[in-house]
Amino acid sequence: MDTVHVPLGARAYDVRIGQDLIARAGDELAPLLARPKVWVVTEERVADLHLGRLMAGLAAGGVAMEALILPPGESTKSWPHLIRVVEWLLTEKVERRDVVVAFGGGVIGDLVGFAAAILRRGVRFVQVPTSLLAQVDSSVGGKTGINTEHGKNLVGAFHQPALVLADVAVLGTLAPRDFLAGYGEVVKYGLLGDAVFFDWLESNAPAMAAGDLTLRAEAVRWSVQMKADIVARDETEQGDRALLNLGHTFCHALEAATGYSDRLLHGEGVAIGCALAFELSARMGLCAQEDPSRVRAHLAAMGTKRDLSDIEGALPDADALLALMAQDKKVVDGKLRFILARGIGEAFVTADVPGNAVRNLLVDALRARPR
Ligand code: GLY
Repeated sequence: MDTVHVPLGARAYDVRIGQDLIARAGDELAPLLARPKVWVVTEERVADLHLGRLMAGLAAGGVAMEALILPPGESTKSWPHLIRVVEWLLTEKVERRDVVVAFGGGVIGDLVGFAAAILRRGVRFVQVPTSLLAQVDSSVGGKTGINTEHGKNLVGAFHQPALVLADVAVLGTLAPRDFLAGYGEVVKYGLLGDAVFFDWLESNAPAMAAGDLTLRAEAVRWSVQMKADIVARDETEQGDRALLNLGHTFCHALEAATGYSDRLLHGEGVAIGCALAFELSARMGLCAQEDPSRVRAHLAAMGTKRDLSDIEGALPDADALLALMAQDKKVVDGKLRFILARGIGEAFVTADVPGNAVRNLLVDALRARPR
């Protein structure tokens, strides 16, 4: 088992990464508990596959649990389910010194973290992420929240977990497409800040995707360490933390354009967005022309989406996509900030991007799609 420490003073915590950590959940959680019981919020698919093992793992450490099982899918990250979680925790008489457990992917982690942030003005919570995306990104760093009809993640709070248990064995039950979508967030770390990690991924990611658990644990550890370093420097995204949004401005527009449907999963949008950010950087003379080709070649080798051509069905035109990008949370004083790169592993934040450079990029990317 590896441990990555997230050094945030009074809000510091550990992320434990390894195989079969769920079986040790009771031993891991017991030191945090004022009484030997936790309240687990999960969703149906995760509950069917893994809740029994979590219960046994908690019981082995002398910890009892109650569970609330929600429907799967993005629509669970909403006001009605937030109310349901908070009211359930109140009905269960969860106290301020108790611990709530978020057991699932990013939807459950964000929703339950937000419920914990507002319940009794803040109770502690533990993330037990079950998707690759949640293990490398959303479970670490304390961003919690829900979607509204105005957009994704528009209501929420920074609320750091007390512990994260990333059990890489659980990833074995993910559908290959979901695993690869999570991989979009893994490759993002190499691209934004560590060329050595990107090299490592070029050599090792195919075997990792094929199921090698040691490589999976190493990829999760490397990603989480990079995220922990950035979050420690900039917990509330006043500066450097925006680097973690590499590819996300394009991604959010594409997700909105495809109706947040199965046509494009979030991590697939991140992978396409990273390729577009590198293409834009090359066109602006910031990085070598070979860099975007290398990014796309790696994504192609992994069999994940990398171009607008990989999105099935109609897409809006470049101006409509630009209008969707303008809804991004990174807009400051009406100006969109982009994460661009001077090379692989060398991303930076800038508002200095000519509007027509982005428009031309989108026009060309849309034109390359089969008609
Ligand atoms: N997923 C981006 C962040 O945590 O800042």
